[in-house]
Amino acid sequence: MTEAEAAAELERLAIEIARHSALYHTDDAPEISDADYDALVRRNDELERQFPHLIRADSPSKQVGAAPAAHLSKVAHKLPMLSLDNAFADEDVADFVDRVRRYLKLPADTEVALTAEPKIDGLSCSLRYENGALALAATRGDGTTGEVVTANAATIADIPQKLRGEAPDVFEVRGEIYMSKADFAELNARMLAEAEDPEKARQFANPRNAAAGSLRQKDAAVTASRPLRFYAHGWGEASSLPAETQYDVMQAIAGWGIPIADDLIRATALDAILSHYRAIEAKRADLPFDIDGVVYKVDRLDWQKRLGHVGKAPRWAIAHKFPAERAETILTAIDIQVGRTGKLTPVARLEPVTVGGVVVTNATLHNADEIARLDARVGDRVRLQRAGDVIPQIVEVTTPPAEHARLAPFVYPATCPQCGSEAVAEEGEVDIRCAGGLICPAQRFERLRHFVSRGALDIEGLGEKSIQEFLDLEWIKEPADIFRLKEHRDELVGRPGWKEISVDKLIEAIEAKRTPDAPRLLFGLGIRHIGIVTARDLLKRYTTLPALQALADELIALRDATQPVLGEEAGKFRNRLNKAIAEHIGVDQVGAAVGHALADFFHEPHNRTVWEDLLAEVSPPDYVVETLQSPVTGKTIVFTGSLEAISRDEAKAQAEALGAKAAGSVSAKTDLVVAGPGAGSKLKKAAELGIEVIDEAAWLEIVEAARQ
Ligand code: IVH
Repeated sequence: MTEAEAAAELERLAIEIARHSALYHTDDAPEISDADYDALVRRNDELERQFPHLIRADSPSKQVGAAPAAHLSKVAHKLPMLSLDNAFADEDVADFVDRVRRYLKLPADTEVALTAEPKIDGLSCSLRYENGALALAATRGDGTTGEVVTANAATIADIPQKLRGEAPDVFEVRGEIYMSKADFAELNARMLAEAEDPEKARQFANPRNAAAGSLRQKDAAVTASRPLRFYAHGWGEASSLPAETQYDVMQAIAGWGIPIADDLIRATALDAILSHYRAIEAKRADLPFDIDGVVYKVDRLDWQKRLGHVGKAPRWAIAHKFPAERAETILTAIDIQVGRTGKLTPVARLEPVTVGGVVVTNATLHNADEIARLDARVGDRVRLQRAGDVIPQIVEVTTPPAEHARLAPFVYPATCPQCGSEAVAEEGEVDIRCAGGLICPAQRFERLRHFVSRGALDIEGLGEKSIQEFLDLEWIKEPADIFRLKEHRDELVGRPGWKEISVDKLIEAIEAKRTPDAPRLLFGLGIRHIGIVTARDLLKRYTTLPALQALADELIALRDATQPVLGEEAGKFRNRLNKAIAEHIGVDQVGAAVGHALADFFHEPHNRTVWEDLLAEVSPPDYVVETLQSPVTGKTIVFTGSLEAISRDEAKAQAEALGAKAAGSVSAKTDLVVAGPGAGSKLKKAAELGIEVIDEAAWLEIVEAARQ
């Protein structure tokens, strides 16, 4: 290997390892197995030993936090562990309170008490106490399923084995495990001092990485040696609650012997809330731990319950973030990456720089428009910002104009850098896509990688390297082929790096996914706009994948049948079509973009083959979500007229919680109409069709009865 080759590979490894490390530590969503990750790190170490003078400033051997912990067992959370929406400006906070009032139908002058406390940059953890004793500790994971870390959490002094005083039979305390800034610095220094070779000493990038790495240890004794802290900020499942407000329950938790934030307050006036925010911001640098904002929560728990959550975030809480941290560095290159849907994404390669405690070497440039807007050129000095967990962004070019003018403007490629196919922008879209579809090796690779990734089918041991190997051998082209890999068992056993044990383990891991969770399977197909949340929403209503395919066929027919009427403008026509599509799907929060994506996917014969081949290999069980049973379960309900006690959104959410569907217009499919004062044409239509009509009070009785 020449020096130039080694330097190139070291650069590639630095980028790859940093990406996977961030996916694992920051996003909690690794895309490759621990073994594949270790292989990358080993390769990097080997090259650095051979070419010590090529060790990079951003070398993974210097930067990366702890290697992924050995496999921890998983546990499904009884109640999902939510995340938070963000507010940046004061107005966003005022909007939040207005939204709460509107949703609850409170008069504009009603006081809404909020709690406010710092948002610590740690990792969230759920501690389940049964009869006052710690029974289970779990990380957040993807919010639905976490990792079991009971033995490790039990070593943390802030986490008592037994609660003090009278606690409910079952109570899950939720909060944040974190490390103080001083302890983090000391830990890094200790690891440096204890390392055999100081050049190779592992160093954590920031306190949050250090906390995550320390908690997810195989050996609880290692966790015990790390200075971890915990503070509670909420709760999950509880057999009963000790109080009726957020603030008072938090005080009860403190009374049981678990730390809560020192700076937890309760206030009704927005002024008081915002001045607490500024007070915390002012002392941010002096606090012993890293914080990235202040969290506000609606104090009344009956209101929290009514507000519920949308997607992964509660309607009753919001994180007011501190302004992003900024830094300047040099843009050394602009690379074009090809994603699984063929989207070309420009990535800025940067001279390493620290922003808010993290070494940054890459930043996203989003798309061609963004490069043009910034007029970013290779060699420019750029200002970066990094806010919380988001990928660093380039805010502006700061090179003096005369110098900037001497640099060559960036020319966006007209072809895909991977397969040479044309790179085109779809009408009305800024994104540029490779038109190569599955002939593009990058797209094929990315799609398969996505299919087996942790958020989708989660096939253990099938990492990037293996996927590339099987693609090169032409053993796999599409997802179904993965389930036929076992036909190559004997050939694979003979290949370098594979042994009988590892091959059989892989086949076993694949076989274990023959009855996958339907939403994960759907998400794994990588259809545009269908993330895991949308996949679940769709399947909640349609139950099986064949039923979804039938829906897609209906949508294709609907698109064909909907034509512009004479003189109708293109924009008007599009709106009318989109409305019809969203209504036909009939799932709240699933819009026309998803409908078009489904229709586009099934319109393509090749995709149908991929889909049918896959369904011949796997049989996902029907997706049935338990809902409260009530007389309206499975019914279609239309709300019309004005409602007084609740908002339209809350009424719809109530209907969904009872397993009913809330529709926008009355048709033969409607089972029930809830009409308030002022109801007009819908009420008339219901009468014509002989549909049952009730008033708001009767509706609320149904809701109450189901909750009993
Ligand atoms: S409440 C139901 N309060 O921030 C809402 N979260 O960005 C659940 N976090 O996953 C979270 N400090 O891990 C809440 N005072 C605080 C917090 C806090 C830190 C974390 C938490 C959550 C993440 C959301």
